[in-house]
Amino acid sequence: MSLIQRPELNTANFHGMVARSPQMMRLFLQLGRAANSNINVLLRGESGTGKDLAAQAIHAAGARAGCPFRAVNCASFGSELLASELFGHVKGAFTGAIRSRDGLMLQADHGTLFLDEVAEIPLDVQGRLLRVLQDRRFFPVGGSREVSVDLRIISATNSSLRELVSSRRFREDLMYRLRVVVVRLPALRERVGDLELLTWTLIDKLNRMGGRQVHTLSQETWRAMQAYPWPGNIRELDNVLQSAFVLGEGETLSLDELTPELRGEGPEVFSGACAALPEPADLAMLERQQLVKVWQEQGGRRVPMAQALGVSRSTLYRKLKAHGLI
Ligand SMILES: Nc1ncnc2c1ncn2[C@@H]1O[C@H](COP(=O)(O)OP(=O)(O)OP(=O)(O)O)[C@@H](O)[C@H]1O
Ligand SMILES: [Mg+2]
Repeated sequence: MSLIQRPELNTANFHGMVARSPQMMRLFLQLGRAANSNINVLLRGESGTGKDLAAQAIHAAGARAGCPFRAVNCASFGSELLASELFGHVKGAFTGAIRSRDGLMLQADHGTLFLDEVAEIPLDVQGRLLRVLQDRRFFPVGGSREVSVDLRIISATNSSLRELVSSRRFREDLMYRLRVVVVRLPALRERVGDLELLTWTLIDKLNRMGGRQVHTLSQETWRAMQAYPWPGNIRELDNVLQSAFVLGEGETLSLDELTPELRGEGPEVFSGACAALPEPADLAMLERQQLVKVWQEQGGRRVPMAQALGVSRSTLYRKLKAHGLI
């Protein structure tokens, strides 16, 4: 069967984001316009669609490019730690605060602060954040002296802030401050032509690392990749290719080197009354499928996801990371 070689592809590159689909060309225009203004931008999009990269691109393309860019994942801290991370703290503010520390707000002064997973900010921190957006001033945790900052805020979420507002889990006033402009990153499966471009871009990157050199795809590999919905988007594509590079060999990427989901192998291993005990690899696959399912059911919101799975938020975060879903 004939093999697929790297095609010649016209590529646009917006500060590290590569694409060729019409959807992404429109997005690059929007990002460029957003970058030229100073307004707060909310990035919406499924996991792995490039929200982090887009936030960095807006910063890099705008007038604040020479100033700091700082990012925080709001889902990975409890309320007290997140407040300290953002606003800093003074010595003795809480147990363990043995010295004063500047928060990300101050570190990003004159630059950009990226609030990733913004929907997960606890309500009390939301109130403090609103004040910074309104008055550009805040008190460090435990401090009595106010600090002024000049910041642009970019935030990202894959949940609907409106829905969270209606269930009173997100402040409406804060939502309006954050989503002055909303930019939606399309899912990989919606982006015509980008799967091909990104596959070869990522293969080039892996080839440059000096190990296995891949120059062709088998027809069935490419068919399976095209048929797959890529719920983890570009990050998942990257993980699938990395794993194929490590586990396989030779110049051609073959179907059996792809992950079970891509080969259309689901949890059937468990069907039938006499199913054998699962292998560890099958367990990992089932865990991943369960994570994706709960993700879809809960719209990617960490707290209800952790509750549905019966694990702590930090365990959930660790598992999502381990499976390449964040
Ligand atoms: N347009 C692109 N071109 C090249 N690489 C990309 C592009 N978009 C995303 N990536 C890569 O895909 C991976 C996931 O991107 P990123 O972390 O920005 O996604 P995300 O939307 O922030 O994901 P999450 O919701 O899980 O935080 C990263 O390795 C990033 O470099
Ligand atoms: Mg991200």
